Amino acid sequence: MRHLIDIKDLSVNEIDELIKVAKDIIANPVKYQDKCNHKKLATLFFEPSTRTRLSFESAMMELGGNVIGFSSASSSSTAKGESVSDTIRTVGCYSDIIAMRHPKEGAPLVASIKSTVPIINAGDGGHNHPTQTLTDLLTISCEKGRLDNLTIGLCGDLKFGRTVHSLITAMSRYKGIKFVLISPEELKVPEYVKDEILDKNNIPYIETNNIETYMADLDILYMTRVQRERFFNEEDYLRLKDYYILNKSKLENAKKDLCIMHPLPRVNEISVEVDDDPRACYFKQVRYGKFIRMALILKLLGIDE
Ligand code: NCD
Repeated sequence: MRHLIDIKDLSVNEIDELIKVAKDIIANPVKYQDKCNHKKLATLFFEPSTRTRLSFESAMMELGGNVIGFSSASSSSTAKGESVSDTIRTVGCYSDIIAMRHPKEGAPLVASIKSTVPIINAGDGGHNHPTQTLTDLLTISCEKGRLDNLTIGLCGDLKFGRTVHSLITAMSRYKGIKFVLISPEELKVPEYVKDEILDKNNIPYIETNNIETYMADLDILYMTRVQRERFFNEEDYLRLKDYYILNKSKLENAKKDLCIMHPLPRVNEISVEVDDDPRACYFKQVRYGKFIRMALILKLLGIDE
């Protein structure tokens, strides 16, 4: 049985294969519509979500399967004091696969140890978010036509942004990748990511707090929201929340084929005037999220595509 807790649980070949299947699903949806007949996905969301939960549910439905679950801890027995392990053992009796989001780093890993069905980490605290990364990789592959030889700017809350940590981990395995890490001093990429991923693999990167300095070099600009729920005090959040607001003028020197991404939700960090720019890819990214999750469900359930 396979789980997806960390993006490194998948080899580069497996990721490339998932992307291939997702593209085939986009081209031939009918071929896949009964692949998960009589299968159930459980979505256990102990933290708020719009895209991740609904894309998982819609993915399972488009494969012909069914969905059960809860969208907040307060409506589950967690509110009565049940442990994650006991919840997982229970839900495994009612479902074939589980997608789980939790505010505590490592909770999906703990769940996977006790689980009788595959567990997918749908985001654990400020740690990892591997299925957002699969979404991001499918987006990059479709929009740029490649996953190698790219200069990627990551901007915003690089400290608490779990999508950033998983994306750096995944992209560091492709050739010719360079990162420009754009954040205020307090929200820099954690040392463990720099040590264990970037430095260890000799990946070139620059850290800056200025979004415009390297704009002209970027193939991808990945904006992120300041993660209010992970801050220790509201004052710091209020001081940092509008540090970056991407608008038309900041894009003046950007490449014509820049791909602007954002895992969403957006708060203020991309001005709505950018939405009409042909380089804005964040709503396409939302759509890709469903197809790659369909491919992932098939893989983890061992269903031949
Ligand atoms: C992200 C998350 O939950 O980490 N959202 C998502 O899943 N698309 C990003 C965020 O909340 O800022």
